[in-house]
Amino acid sequence: MTGEPGPFIRIEGVSKRFGTFEAVKDVNLTIDKGEIFALLGGSGCGKTTLLRMLAGFEEPSAGRIFIDGQDMAGTPPWDRAVHMMFQSYALFPHMSVERNIAYGLKHERLTTAQRRDRVREMLDLVQLTQFAERKPHQISGGQRQRVALARALARQPKLLLLDEPLAALDKKLREHTQFELMSIQQRTGVTFIVVTHDQEEAMTLADRIAVMDRGTVRQVGSAGEIYEYPNSRFVAGFIGTVSTFPGRVVRLTGDLAEIDIPAMNGTFAARAVPGLTEGRNVTVALRPEKVQISKICPDAVNVFEGQVKDLAYFGKDSLYRVTLPAGDLILAHAVNARRGSDSDRTADWDDKVWLSFEPASAILLTD
Ligand SMILES: Nc1ncnc2c1ncn2[C@@H]1O[C@H](COP(=O)(O)OP(=O)(O)OP(=O)(O)O)[C@@H](O)[C@H]1O
Ligand SMILES: [Mg+2]
Repeated sequence: MTGEPGPFIRIEGVSKRFGTFEAVKDVNLTIDKGEIFALLGGSGCGKTTLLRMLAGFEEPSAGRIFIDGQDMAGTPPWDRAVHMMFQSYALFPHMSVERNIAYGLKHERLTTAQRRDRVREMLDLVQLTQFAERKPHQISGGQRQRVALARALARQPKLLLLDEPLAALDKKLREHTQFELMSIQQRTGVTFIVVTHDQEEAMTLADRIAVMDRGTVRQVGSAGEIYEYPNSRFVAGFIGTVSTFPGRVVRLTGDLAEIDIPAMNGTFAARAVPGLTEGRNVTVALRPEKVQISKICPDAVNVFEGQVKDLAYFGKDSLYRVTLPAGDLILAHAVNARRGSDSDRTADWDDKVWLSFEPASAILLTD
């Protein structure tokens, strides 16, 4: 049976062992139809292994994988409506762009006319019609990437697995190609699972992201959820920049927690999170853009002192590294809204400064 209600892909308690080494540990995920879903994590955390199990190149050691309501156990790769696009696009150098795309259809039962139409449609989709006759070495890296994508989509898979699809491209081209990839996905409606170790790429491309660490999924959510509400020190540190400090819950009143933060030499208000109890140790995490910096003492709830250790001036904004009384460092980001000389900057090297943050901006982590 296919097309059952419920998630398009369901990964239930999936583990993969290679000998005694567990590369993927008890992963549970659901992915909706038409989603761009990213698997994000450092090298060796199990991303490719998880993709290979979805494609059917590896069998899980434990757990089950459902695609479109069907249990995939024992289903070989060629019987799954899944296509995996490898990092090295593996285009045939002696074949034209057109023939490379058509190659993806060689096992399909299509008439010559159907095959030709499908290839034309794909060339149009990836905007390479005028390069149909060229060989892979006669087109750019980004165009080669699109040929590989067209070849993968020619078979009309329901699910496309992309392992580091943009890794071979330089930074500028990668950013451009990210948007192309998103637009092609939108036009085809095919579900994409994209593996990347680049957090910006995951945040740009994906509807939702799973952050992986040593075989496990640490958090799943939209880019905004993971950035603003990380569930652990690992995720907070992995996505974006953050300063972290040990703290202790002094008092809980309603949805506010009073936290003693020795590094800041005082007690501060923060939005409470579930699971907090008075006396509990927590980690307080602050994103640089949530920390206000000023040479004048602000009228704010959470104010503490520091001294500018150094700063990086980027033109439109600056990033300050500020030393706190006990020697810890905190990062603060300031937008340079006024035009002027260096002396007009928010603060300068060695300046004594006041820092502050909103209670809702502090991230309290218990894991
Ligand atoms: N066939 C195998 N036999 C033994 N160990 C394996 C095998 N395949 C993968 N591993 C190990 O499993 C772990 C996860 O590998 P995997 O290729 O899934 O990582 P990854 O997240 O894709 O990393 P990268 O970002 O470097 O590609 C690694 O430690 C790897 O050495
Ligand atoms: Mg990999």
